[in-house]
Formats: sequence, C-alpha cells, structure tokens
Amino acid sequence: MKYIVYVSQARAPFSIDQLTDLLGRSRSRNTKEGITGILLYRYSDDFDKGYFIQAIEGPEAELDALWRRISGDSRHHTIVTLSEGFEEARMFPNWSMGFKNVEPGDLADVPGFADIDKDSFWENLRSGGMPEALDLLRGFYDGD
Ligand SMILES: Cc1cc2nc3c(=O)[nH]c(=O)nc-3n(C[C@H](O)[C@H](O)[C@H](O)COP(=O)(O)O)c2cc1C
Repeated sequence: MKYIVYVSQARAPFSIDQLTDLLGRSRSRNTKEGITGILLYRYSDDFDKGYFIQAIEGPEAELDALWRRISGDSRHHTIVTLSEGFEEARMFPNWSMGFKNVEPGDLADVPGFADIDKDSFWENLRSGGMPEALDLLRGFYDGD
C-alpha cells in the first residue's frame, strides 16, 4: 500500500457546493480504484485563502495515477508533499475519502498545522518536510 500526504493552496476559496462536488466525485472514483484517505479543508478569513491537507493511500499504480491527476489539477497550487512511503496496512480503511472542513481551533490542537495560513508554515515545509504528518491526520480520523 503506497501513501502520500500533502498540503496545497486553493487557487480560489472553495464554496460548500464545490467541496461537495469534489468529494462526491472523488469518493466514487476512489471506491472503484481502491483508494482511501482523508481530506481537510481550511478557509482563512485573514487572507481569503483556502488550504488543503490530504492523505491518499492505495495500490501503487492507482495511487500514482491519482497523484498525477491531483498534481495537475488547476484548482490548487503550491502542492508540497509532507510524507510518502509504503505501509502494510491502510491507515484510513473505512473512508473512500474522509472529509473535514476544519476551523482554526481544530488545527490549533495539531502541532505543525496550527499556522497553515502563515508564510512561515510554507517556508519551513520547503526546507524540512513533515514526516509526522500522517500521525497528525490520524488524529482527525480517530476522532470521527
Ligand atoms: C484537493 C483535491 C483533492 C482531490 N482528491 C481526489 C481524490 O481523492 N480522488 C480523485 O479521484 N480525485 C481527486 N481530486 C480530483 C482530481 O484532481 C481530478 O480532477 C479527478 O480525479 C478527475 O480527473 P480527470 O478529469 O483527469 O479524470 C482532487 C482534487 C483536489 C483539488
């Protein structure tokens, strides 16, 4: 099972309808292709910007194909991989794509993601990555 965890910035903030549409399509396609994972979206009032954090996992060929589609999707940019590798067992086995529209307070409890709407967050990522990213996301999974 291959996995990738990344963060990105929405080209324009997503409306609830756009998020619902993205999720509906992703879930049905992921179910067909054996992909599971979790997607977090956070809108920042201060900057009028939207941010994504997503973990995807599945068979290598399907995951690589999905990654090519996500990487080339013009609805977001500044895509930074936090963590990738292989795991024997799935970490989000029950979710074709779990979703949470997170509030600033939710991320405040998650070290590393607290300041996703600050320039310093993005600068630090480029220099060091974030190997513990998956554990942080699992907190959202276990909590739901
Ligand atoms: C933040 C974000 C997360 C996405 N997650 C998924 C996903 O989990 N599964 C999926 O099939 N598409 C996902 N997509 C959509 C893909 O980028 C792509 O639009 C979709 O798979 C259809 O691709 P196609 O038009 O080339 O067939 C995501 C897009 C964005 C912006």
